[in-house]
Amino acid sequence: MSSPTSDKDFYTIFGYITLGIIVLAIIIAILSKVFASTISNDAYDEVKTTATEQRLASSEKINLASNPTFKSEVIQVASSKSGEDVYNSVCMSCHMSGAAGAPITGQADQWGDRLAKGNDTLYTNAINGIGIMPAKGGLMSLSDEEVKLAVDYMLEESR
Ligand code: HEC
Repeated sequence: MSSPTSDKDFYTIFGYITLGIIVLAIIIAILSKVFASTISNDAYDEVKTTATEQRLASSEKINLASNPTFKSEVIQVASSKSGEDVYNSVCMSCHMSGAAGAPITGQADQWGDRLAKGNDTLYTNAINGIGIMPAKGGLMSLSDEEVKLAVDYMLEESR
């Protein structure tokens, strides 16, 4: 037979439990504070650094472009794709293998008839497209000048 719990016993046990819960709550509060501050600091630093870099980067570009001292340099960089660069990035996919009947770069016999048309016609056809070949080899962002340089490069390589 268990002895009946007196009111005094009840309040003692109840008091300990309440105290335990309060202590636990304080520990959780401290721990969450510790973790929350380290995590959010790191995340904040990262966001801040990225944002700072982005702002610096874009303002650099804007300043360069709008600064007359640098302007010519920037323009030169922007349009400095050589014929070889354009050829390698756009034209080679068809003109190295002869895909879709493209005249192969480096095989003079495949260019004879085309050369006879004159360079101006070849430029125009490369810029506007001919037969299966899409205009500018499919990269419309190329300038006419870049396409011409690429044609020059192809013809030079095919002599
Ligand atoms: C999708 C494949 C493809 C790409 C990419 C491509 N070409 Fe062509 N190209 C062809 C084909 C096919 C022909 C032959 C078309 C014909 O004669 O019917 C051709 C023909 C040409 C000719 C000869 C045109 C003529 O009048 O005979 C030139 C010059 C030329 N390409 C230059 C280029 C340049 C420069 C590029 C890159 C900017 C390029 N091509 C990218 C497929 C391609």
